[in-house]
Amino acid sequence: MDFIKITRQYKPQISLVELHRPKQLNALNLQLMQELKEVLSILDDDSEVRVIVLTGNDQSFAAGADIKQMSDKGAIDMLKIDQFSTWDQISKVQKPLIAAVSGFALGGGCELAMTCDMIIASETARFGQPEIKIGVMPGAGGTQRLTRAIGKVRAMEMVLTGKLINAEEALKFGLVNKVVPVESYLKEAIKLAGQVAKMSPVAVRLAKESVNRAYETHLDEGLHFERKNFYLLFASEDQKEGMQAFIEKRDPRFEGR
Ligand code: CAA
Repeated sequence: MDFIKITRQYKPQISLVELHRPKQLNALNLQLMQELKEVLSILDDDSEVRVIVLTGNDQSFAAGADIKQMSDKGAIDMLKIDQFSTWDQISKVQKPLIAAVSGFALGGGCELAMTCDMIIASETARFGQPEIKIGVMPGAGGTQRLTRAIGKVRAMEMVLTGKLINAEEALKFGLVNKVVPVESYLKEAIKLAGQVAKMSPVAVRLAKESVNRAYETHLDEGLHFERKNFYLLFASEDQKEGMQAFIEKRDPRFEGR
């Protein structure tokens, strides 16, 4: 891997995935995205891993898709390269993904953060979809996920003018979970990951699936989907353990079965 670094911690079972193309502010070229997809797929299949934290560096989470790599392409080249199929795979990761964002999260960088399930931001984080300034528009879900996250008029302003928002605005608009000083955003994301990692992995997986379903379906169908997943969890040992531990007034030991 040239552009991705992984650190695994088995206790608690969290993996830290770092985008590592610092000179280009972590611009997301095709190789980086391919590597990211592969790493996430391996971690998703690894039963020792329960939560994945995705980060960049203090200066930049990611400054967007690689403009230099795209600048001379035609529509059919872009269609054939099909770069967004990689993004589709990333959005299908079953384990919880937490983005730890500092500095720039622009264009594809903002879209990548929004593809994650939760976002912890440093005070220096800047979010934006500035593609309009280079004659295009968001292509990795920005018009859809940003609109769902912060509402139409705010998303419209950001997408049509390229305006960036700071971390406090992102918090106020509901784009991020928490804003902390730059020294502690990664620690805070790992702490949040640790809280999720303590839960039953089976319940976490079905709960994530159910929350995501709220984006994609009508209320009735979403409620039906949620109910089926809720019933399904009563087939897990973790449900028995979790409820028994409550009754016995002790901490549960979840094994993911
Ligand atoms: N693609 C390719 N290279 C990029 C890049 C990008 N998105 N963003 C930054 N870089 C490179 C710069 O070209 C520069 O490289 P060189 O030193 O080799 O010239 C290096 O990173 C540092 O960047 P700057 O000198 O520009 O740093 P700065 O601090 O002055 O500005 C910035 C930082 C405001 C983030 C500015 O780099 C910028 O505007 N970047 C582009 C942001 C953008 O438009 N993103 C959207 C891309 S399109 C997209 O993402 C489509 C999609 O939906 C998937």
